[in-house]
Parts: sequence; structure tokens; C-alpha cells
Amino acid sequence: MRSKISIIGAGSVGATCAQRIAEKGYADVVLVDIIPGLPQGKALDMMESAPVLGFDSRVVGTNGYEETAGSDVVIVTSGLARKPGMTRDELLLANAKIITEVTRNVVKYSPDGIILMVTNPVDAMTYLALKTSGFPPGRVFGLSGVLDGARLSSFIAAELKVSVADVFACVIGEHGKNMIIIPRLCTAGGTPITRLLPPETIDRLVARTVNGGAEIVDLLKTGSAFYAPSAAAARMAEAVILDKKQVLPCTVYLQGEYGLKDAVISVPVKLGKAGIEEIMELELTQEEKKALASSAGAVRELIEKMKLD
Ligand code: APR
Repeated sequence: MRSKISIIGAGSVGATCAQRIAEKGYADVVLVDIIPGLPQGKALDMMESAPVLGFDSRVVGTNGYEETAGSDVVIVTSGLARKPGMTRDELLLANAKIITEVTRNVVKYSPDGIILMVTNPVDAMTYLALKTSGFPPGRVFGLSGVLDGARLSSFIAAELKVSVADVFACVIGEHGKNMIIIPRLCTAGGTPITRLLPPETIDRLVARTVNGGAEIVDLLKTGSAFYAPSAAAARMAEAVILDKKQVLPCTVYLQGEYGLKDAVISVPVKLGKAGIEEIMELELTQEEKKALASSAGAVRELIEKMKLD
């Protein structure tokens, strides 16, 4: 029997993510949205591509949660996306309402599932889903570092004219302006980029990465990025479903790791069938540790604005 992944929100990120997962064939997909017909239409369209592409995954669309029952992974993309000039934080209260309701339904139908949060501001939404679900922290995490790292890797590869496969980029912290990029841990073919690129070039690539989502919002004008976010979310879901034990940066709940408690922030973790199977502690300098703590502080401020208690 194939695994089951439900995706809440059949908009740009959700539907593209469904397509990417279905095409790989490792799971059946249930696409949920509040707009009548939208998830059904997109699912049908995807199923009609199966004979051409040769995949056997089943994709169904629905406006309810019954079909999501017993999901192994639930990817949450429902909510508002950014418009030009907006920060991810401005989505906070509107999306908090949606995520609370969605999480309750996810828990009801998939009490043993794993929640992968994509909706922004993702660090605060991950915290909200964790608290609302009552799931253990290993089963609720968010998309951030895989996406931010992919953005930076693509810029480094283009700058050095090397394959993206040879580049590793280390991005941790908040998914937003307080993200932390550690150039000494970014490598091309194993060599730190600090030895391959001048500091001003690295600064430019770092700034472009921090601003990566906004650059695309400004270009699209009517929505936010979805090709890279959906690819990153699908990769994380795949690591879980196929029990890959892959080390990927994810937004997770910290309970003392990195010296931080009751904090939600992106750090490298081992992802497998149980969700987060281990939090990997990078060896950070004092300055980097300080930056991580202040990034966690920025997320904490957002969490407080949601007034959860
Ligand atoms: N239940 C289910 N679906 C919902 C709900 C809800 N309560 N509220 C909104 N939706 C759906 C919308 O109907 C829409 O189809 O969520 C979908 C969101 O899709 P888009 O507007 O296309 O947004 P998208 O670009 O996919 O981004 C979604 O991911 O990357 C983040 O910042 C982004 O928070 C945003 C999210």
C-alpha cells in the first residue's frame, strides 16, 4: 500500500507540491481547500496527466477532511500569501485563525500523522500547530532552511559556474529577515565559499537570499513564490515517507538545544519515518550563537502577538 500525504490548501504551493509528489509515485495525495471545485479540478487534471507521465499515485481533491483520514504526513499550505510590500509577519493573525482550525481537523482525522507547516510566518505557525495539536515536537515541523538554503545554493552555483549538486549552503534561524547564513559552512565541492568568493560577493548573495521571497513577490505582483517552496516541502515529505534519515534544516521546537528553550527556529535535523529523529547541533561561534538567540527572540515576539494562552 502506498503512503498517504494530505495537502491542505490547493493554491500555488499546495497544488504544485501535490503534483511533485504524485509524479514521484511514493504516495497517494489528498488535496483539501475551502474553495468548492478547486481541489477537485486540480486533482482531476493531475490524474489525467498520469498516463502521460507514467505515475500510479492517486490524487483526490476535496473540501472536507474525511478523505484525509490516516495520513502519514499532512502538508499545511492553507492561508494568505504575501502581496508586494508585505512582510511574512503581516500575515500573522489572519493565518493564525486558519491554522488553528486546520490543525484541529488534521488531528481529528490523522491523530498519528506528521504535520509539515508551510504557511507563513512559518516559525510562528509551526509553534501554533504544535500547541494546538498536542502532538510531540518530533511530529510538527516547518519548511524554511531547505528553501532558503536552496535559494542560496542556486546563487552560489551560478556565481561559481558549478553544478548545484556540488554546493551546500548553511542557513538556519528564522524564515525571514532574521535568518542566519553561515558562509564558512557553505561549500562548493567541499571547499568553503569564503575561500572561493570575495567577501563583497558573498555579502551580495547573502542579502539576495534573505530577500529571496520578497524578490519573487515583487516580480509576480499577484502572489508569492511556489516552485521552490513546493520542491522543498516535497523533499522533506519524501525524507519522512521513505525513511531517508536525511539531514535537512527544518523549523523545529527546541528544548535546550543550542541553549534555547521553548523556541521555534530552523536548525539541521535528521528526518525519517518518525519525523524529527534527532536535532543536530552545529558547532557555532559565540557570535553565531548570539545571532541564533536573537533570531529566536524575533519569533518569540510574533508568538506573543498571537496571544495563545
Ligand atoms: N482551509 C483550507 N484551505 C484554505 C483555508 C482553510 N481554512 N483558508 C485558505 N485556504 C486556501 C485558499 O483557498 C487558497 O487556495 O489556501 C490556498 C492558498 O493558496 P495561495 O493563495 O495560492 O497561496 P500560496 O502561494 O499557495 O501560499 C500559501 O504558503 O509559502 C506560503 O506564504 C505562503 O502562507 C502562504 C502559503
